[in-house]
Amino acid sequence: MGKPKVLVTRKWPQEVEQQLQELYDVRLNENDIPLSIQELKAALQNYDAILPTVTDPITAEVLTVDNKRTKILGNFGVGFNHIDVETAKSQGIIVTNTPGVLTDCTADIAMLLLLMSARRGAEGDRLIRNQQWNGWAPTQMLGQKVTGKTLGLIGFGRIAQAVAKRAYFGFGMKIIFFNPSTLDQDITNKFHAEQTGTIEEVLTKADFVSLHCPGGMATRHLINEQRLKMMRPSAHLINTARGNIVDSKALIKALQQSWIAGAGLDVFENEPNLDPKFLQMENVSLLPHLGSATRETRISMGNRVLKNLSDFFAGKEPENRIV
Ligand code: DGY
Repeated sequence: MGKPKVLVTRKWPQEVEQQLQELYDVRLNENDIPLSIQELKAALQNYDAILPTVTDPITAEVLTVDNKRTKILGNFGVGFNHIDVETAKSQGIIVTNTPGVLTDCTADIAMLLLLMSARRGAEGDRLIRNQQWNGWAPTQMLGQKVTGKTLGLIGFGRIAQAVAKRAYFGFGMKIIFFNPSTLDQDITNKFHAEQTGTIEEVLTKADFVSLHCPGGMATRHLINEQRLKMMRPSAHLINTARGNIVDSKALIKALQQSWIAGAGLDVFENEPNLDPKFLQMENVSLLPHLGSATRETRISMGNRVLKNLSDFFAGKEPENRIV
C-alpha cells in the first residue's frame, strides 16, 4: 500500500513540511494562496487527509461533496469555528486541533494589546512616524495605569488562565471572570480569581475585559451594543479569540462615542477585510491575527498535527480529536 495522500492548505514552517514529506505523499502550498471552495471540494475527493487552518471555510457544502476520500481533517490551530464539525461528524470525518501549544504566545498578545490600548502604544508610534512629536510634555498622551486594576475575562480556559497568570503576578491585577461551567478552586485560587455569575457582572466591574470564548454561532455578537454600554467609560476591550464574538458596528460606535476608552483587537469579523472605520480611530490598537505567530509555536502546532495524523493512520485515537 502506498503512503497516505495528504494536502496542506497553507505554507507551514519548513521543518514540519519536511517531516510531512518524509511520511506522506504530500501536496504542500508553496505559494500560500488559500484554496477556493471548488479546490477544497476537489481536495475532499482526492486526499486521505486535509490539513486546513483558520483561513479555510470547511462548510457543509464542502463536506458533503460526492465521492469523498478524506477521512481526517487535521486542523492547524486550536480554534475550529471555520469547520462545520457537526457535518464532518455526520459524514464520518474525524477532526482534530492543536490545543495547548499556543497558549502562552496568545496570552502574550492579549497582554500586549492590553498594554498598547491602556498606554496608547500604537498611537505614540504613529505620532513619531508622522513626525508630529515635539518632545516630552507633562500632559501629553496620558494613558491609563494597568498595575492594580481589575481584569475581567470572558471564558476561563487555558489561554484566559495564562493571561490571568501574567496579569496577577506581573501587574498585580485583580482577576474576575465569567465561565459557563464552575471552575475548580485549585485553579481560581492560584490567581485569587473571582468567578462571576454573569457576563454583565464582568463588564460592569472590569477596567479591562479580555475575550477568551470559542468562536462560532453560539458566541456570535456576544459583545453587542447593549453589553458594550454596560462597560465603564474608562474600560478597554481586548479580543484575541475570534472576530465575530464582537459586533464590529457596535464596537465602532462605542469607540466613537466614548462608551469605552479603547480596544485592542487581534481578530476581526470578516478577516482580513476589517471595517475600514477602525483605521480612522486612534483609540483602537490593531494586530493582524498574531496570537500564535512565533516560530516556536507554529512549529509546535505543526508537530501536534503530525502526531494527530500519525495516530490516526496507525489506527489509534488522535489525542486532540474534536469529532
Ligand atoms: C488558532 O489556533 O485558533 C489561531 O487563531 C489560528 O487559527
